[in-house]
Amino acid sequence: ISLKPYNTFQIDKKARFFIEVESVHEIKETLQYAREQNLPVLILGGGSNVLLTKDVFALVIKISIKGIEVLKEDDSHVWVKAGAGEVWHDFVLHTISHQWAGVENLSLIPGTVGASPMQNIGAYGIEIKEVFDHLEAINRDSLETVKIDKETCKFGYRDSIFKNVARDQYIITHVVYRLSKKPTFNVSYGAIRSTLENMGHQESSYSLKHISDAVIKIRQEKLPDPKKLGNAGSFFKNPILTKAQFEQLKRDYPTIPFYPQENGVKVPAAWLLEMAGWKGKTFGDVGVHKNQPLVLVNYGNGDGEAIKALSEKIQRDIKEKFNIHLYPEVNFI
Ligand code: FAD
Ligand code: EPU
Repeated sequence: ISLKPYNTFQIDKKARFFIEVESVHEIKETLQYAREQNLPVLILGGGSNVLLTKDVFALVIKISIKGIEVLKEDDSHVWVKAGAGEVWHDFVLHTISHQWAGVENLSLIPGTVGASPMQNIGAYGIEIKEVFDHLEAINRDSLETVKIDKETCKFGYRDSIFKNVARDQYIITHVVYRLSKKPTFNVSYGAIRSTLENMGHQESSYSLKHISDAVIKIRQEKLPDPKKLGNAGSFFKNPILTKAQFEQLKRDYPTIPFYPQENGVKVPAAWLLEMAGWKGKTFGDVGVHKNQPLVLVNYGNGDGEAIKALSEKIQRDIKEKFNIHLYPEVNFI
């Protein structure tokens, strides 16, 4: 079948076999079957962080486990368990409607709850690691269900064990978030504060809904809607430079924006791309978005190989111009 409806880049590649699963039991049965048939397996959630570069000679398993429940609560917190197949934004709206705080800044991020720990999704001053409690997963070798706590996940900027040492070892079936009954609003990201102000909201009367609405507004203005224009959000991660590397760069480009981190200095890849002249460039059916150059786009009939080739060309150019290596955020398949 064509995977076009199952990836937000809208790349028209085929899967040899495809199944949508709604329970842990179904996943285990499917894995067992794949093993008997000697079939490789590919896991998909919402397909909003993948780039298909060829037809997939595998059994594609789309995870659609649903359900949101409260595991436990105390005076200040609630532990909310969600199925991996829940749409992330629907989960966020659910928490807001119950006045549970912690993920409102992550409104409108595409994809599923199950993929949220993969790269420790983040936006507008928050990453999920701040509210993550634990997850449940199926070990793909033993077919056992395991609990994995936060420490084990080793969350970093757009990173976790699931992207490296534990890659392809687990299928995440449920995620438990520890949310707060007494909200503290995070408006550290400049644009949120100014957007709230423009929407007529005073700091004294902020609500979770206000924060969520502001984030939604900013995202809709800045990022292309994957339903209208194929894309997978930021294609590259923002590079983190050593202090020395950064000082050198700042001598050559005194106006470069930067964000100091524990392990170095983060600079916006979007700025590097804009400076290098990539913003808005098109190459046939693929290109670099006109408002957000970190987003590569498929104008309709674009091909995964063409996007991959474009990304490699960009990497070479940024290396040549700034001596910085850009690492992809998107998962190549
Ligand atoms: P998929 O693309 O289906 O899968 C991603 C990877 O995870 C694949 O390797 C897949 O095999 C694996 N996987 C998926 N589900 C499971 C599971 N249950 N168990 C094991 N492995 C699994 N990301 C951010 O962090 N911040 C943003 O602000 C942001 N903005 C975006 C804006 C747009 C317009 C788009 C298109 C994407 C954006 N992203 C952002 C990226 C994307 O939304 C996230 O990476 C999201 O978590 C991907 O979820 P998904 O279900 O679509 O994952
Ligand atoms: N910039 C430019 N030119 C542009 C756009 C941006 O120079 O055309 C510079 C500006 O200095 C701006 C800075 O880049 O201040 C940052 O831009 P923006 O706020 O758009 O954020 P980003 O760094 O490009 C990151 C995440 C996004 C997340 C936003 C908001 C990464 C790789 N991307 O983007 O996540 O939504 O911050 O927090 O960290 C994603 O991961 O897919 C994603 C969209």
